[in-house]
Amino acid sequence: MPGSTDFDFPNFKTIIEPFRIRSVEPINATTPEQRAIHLAEAGYNPFLLHADHVLIDLLTDSGTGAMSSRQWAAMISSDESYAGSPSFYRFEAAIKDITGFRHVIPTHQGRAAEHILFSSSVGAGKTVPSNTHFDTTRANIEYLRGSARDLVIPEGRQPQIIHPFKGNMDLDALRATIESVGVANIPFVMLTVTNNSGGGQPVSMANIRAVSDLVHGYELPLILDACRFAENAWFIRLREDGYAEKAPIDIAREMFSYADGCTMSAKKDGMSNIGGFLALNDDDLTMRCRNLLILTEGFPTYGGLAGYDLEAIAVGLYEALQEDYLRYRIRSIQYLAEKITAVGVPIVQPPGGHAIYLDARAMLPHLPDSQYPAWSLNNMLYLAGGVRGVEIGSIMFGMQPDGTEKPAAMDLVRLAFPRRVYTQSHVDYLAEVLIAIYSQREKVRGHRIVWQAPFLRHFTVRMEPV
Ligand code: F0G
Repeated sequence: MPGSTDFDFPNFKTIIEPFRIRSVEPINATTPEQRAIHLAEAGYNPFLLHADHVLIDLLTDSGTGAMSSRQWAAMISSDESYAGSPSFYRFEAAIKDITGFRHVIPTHQGRAAEHILFSSSVGAGKTVPSNTHFDTTRANIEYLRGSARDLVIPEGRQPQIIHPFKGNMDLDALRATIESVGVANIPFVMLTVTNNSGGGQPVSMANIRAVSDLVHGYELPLILDACRFAENAWFIRLREDGYAEKAPIDIAREMFSYADGCTMSAKKDGMSNIGGFLALNDDDLTMRCRNLLILTEGFPTYGGLAGYDLEAIAVGLYEALQEDYLRYRIRSIQYLAEKITAVGVPIVQPPGGHAIYLDARAMLPHLPDSQYPAWSLNNMLYLAGGVRGVEIGSIMFGMQPDGTEKPAAMDLVRLAFPRRVYTQSHVDYLAEVLIAIYSQREKVRGHRIVWQAPFLRHFTVRMEPV
């Protein structure tokens, strides 16, 4: 090396946050007594807490990320024309470049893309299979009187089993479903990458390809729920043969190449605080979706977004695919997992791309399902450390369309990490809080429902400790 001595340049092992911080947001410490009051006032529902009473907010990774200086710069130079804004064309070009789909429809967030797509194709008697539907896709399908089927591989339902791609679709179950329901009653098949409700677990390229072959054999379209496509691409690179040297963007392009369209919440791997899109190849379906878009979201070149949102997404989609970012992102979640599993805290294994999922049933065996262990554990996290996660369990999924109650397959607390927001010391603090709860886990109290809404009840439910 020119200019150097005989210095031995090591490959440093520490994976650092690949950014420095130039704008900071204070976070507020509270006492346990204050938190007990705040939680009671929120009806024991962390969704109803004031965010400034939360110290570390892991409620969601959706729309909570930090934007880059490049994104802000693009936003300042946005164009707010109602129709035909250059900001839209930059947004459209980025999405076409990454996904390869022919038509791009902007929406204000992911569920609007779902609603527009489903309203154009789902109705009574229709079934939509997926590896696992997220709560908004399931609710949108059921609202239209369709049926949402979760067909993830059996390993994907067992928190402790290690498998590199626990988000994979069970191909036999998919074939059996198509045969029994009938091709005419299935508008399309979906794959959620990564599989959020199943623990943020990735889907392998081999599985995406096999699902694609299978559904195309029946002449059915495949739609990706692509919210976390970049994290999925990174797991393929880490875990699947033949991808170790490939750039994340090329892996993502290959993933999309097997599908006929996608719904996307740009609040995740779009690195944006708001926004989403629907991208499709089918001309006819696109036309129907665009007409609905005009009715509910806005003109097709803005779809419920400002020009500056379109700009933030156009830049953010590429930033989410940067190698140093993805390496840090996936590593920081693994780092927390290693610290807490070392003392025995049960989590969905392996840790997911955007979140750790605590296995509340395994951690709190003294609480029956009827006392909602995951909900109770999440409330304890707030009381103990001012940390807010989210229950992905029996409150979220337990109410059946006919109004009866059935415990969810897994009762989890998700700790989802906003992108580029928290640093290693926040993670160290979190580990300390979790380990403290684990060491006194038999003292965690159950909860019961006081009031609930007829669907998506977790957002507004009011509870009380048993
Ligand atoms: N699909 C998946 C897999 C999601 O995780 C989400 C949102 C959506 C669709 C809907 O997108 O919020 O933009 O309307 N998930 C957030 C979460 C809310 O916390 O996991 P949206």
